[in-house]
Amino acid sequence: PSGTLLDARGRPLRDLRISVTDRCNFRCSYCMPKEVFDKHYQYLPHGDLLSFEEITRISRLFLAHGVRKLRLTGGEPLLRKHLERLVEQLALLRTVDGRAPDLTLTTNGSLLARKARALKDAGLSRVTVSLDSLQDEVFRRMNDMDFPVRAVLDGIEAAHAVGLEHIKVNMVVKRGTNDHEILPMARHFRGTGITLRFIEYMDVGATNGWRMDEVLPSAQVIERLTAELPLVPLAATAPGETAKRWGWAGADGRHDPSLGEIGVISSVTQAFCGDCNRARLSMEGRLYLCLFASQGWDLRGLLRGGASDAEVEAAITGIWGQREDRYSELRASLPADTAQTGKRRIEMSYIGG
Ligand code: GTP
Ligand code: 5AD
Ligand code: SF4
Ligand code: SF4
Repeated sequence: PSGTLLDARGRPLRDLRISVTDRCNFRCSYCMPKEVFDKHYQYLPHGDLLSFEEITRISRLFLAHGVRKLRLTGGEPLLRKHLERLVEQLALLRTVDGRAPDLTLTTNGSLLARKARALKDAGLSRVTVSLDSLQDEVFRRMNDMDFPVRAVLDGIEAAHAVGLEHIKVNMVVKRGTNDHEILPMARHFRGTGITLRFIEYMDVGATNGWRMDEVLPSAQVIERLTAELPLVPLAATAPGETAKRWGWAGADGRHDPSLGEIGVISSVTQAFCGDCNRARLSMEGRLYLCLFASQGWDLRGLLRGGASDAEVEAAITGIWGQREDRYSELRASLPADTAQTGKRRIEMSYIGG
């Protein structure tokens, strides 16, 4: 069996996001607030995590069904020991058209300076780094750790230096907390070849105390930027893309590629579920069909129970085939308090970005 799998709404499966650990060395208030993720919090024991061999096997089966992009996430993926060995195994896999998968990683950057070289040598194609501010004080308010911005910037530079391509920086914007950093961040990365993306603060999970008044709609991000520096809209590069792209314009008012581009990810104000092609695999081998899902399908049980490739593939096909998830599109029509009182949803730290 090979080729494209379609879900119940006709959406193909293209992107597998693999969470490799539930741990993180940051405590971003929008993701792992300290009051919940304190010293008593029970992380998964190592034996519950998928092994690198299990992750590779599952990835191979997904690739056989049309997946083209593999993204490693966490928690903080670089906390998983010897992650480069997993990267090495995944880099050897092939898509249905015989190509190497787009193999990428989302990290908070804290360990990137140390690991960039090994990751690149292992075959990682690119990397996305989260960074919410250029000021230590604001950064600390966001991630609740005393970690200097400089160290993250060093990580980004190291990634660039070892030749990781298309580096992206993700900034979660919280109105009243770091929205005054939008312009400084934009100026900092403009012309560097690094793509900065502004993410609307989302109601993922059930612990971050999300409130709509802390969301700064992307339209306002664009308004604030264009008041200072000219931007022009760019076409999407692939169907199902999360970010809407904007290019920095030169003196002639047209996109100047040497200045680069930015992106806005507007899950709250402009949902992009219509062509969402992403599946998520948790560190313990549960498959989730939406960032806002409250339920996942156990693949680890199949693997450890001795299922054949054909049996695992049949499970994947069946699960994706009945998928109807489109939470962000429905959010507006849900009762206002569903975000925090509805069915207990998975946490971002459990399923990655
Ligand atoms: P590339 O553009 O290929 O680098 O990947 P991407 O666009 O998927 O970006 P990335 O993985 O960096 O995702 C960026 C952020 O967008 C994530 O951290 C999430 O906050 C958000 N995001 C990604 N996928 C989804 C999704 O399916 N639904 C929602 N609501 N948000 C998403
Ligand atoms: N809203 C928006 N983005 C979030 N991220 C984590 N939690 C949220 C949230 N509540 C982002 C992180 C990182 C990626 C893994 O997801 O900043 O870039
Ligand atoms: Fe850690 Fe990323 Fe969550 Fe922040 S957003 S707590 S860095 S996993
Ligand atoms: Fe995909 Fe769910 Fe995000 Fe919609 S809310 S884009 S279905 S992950």
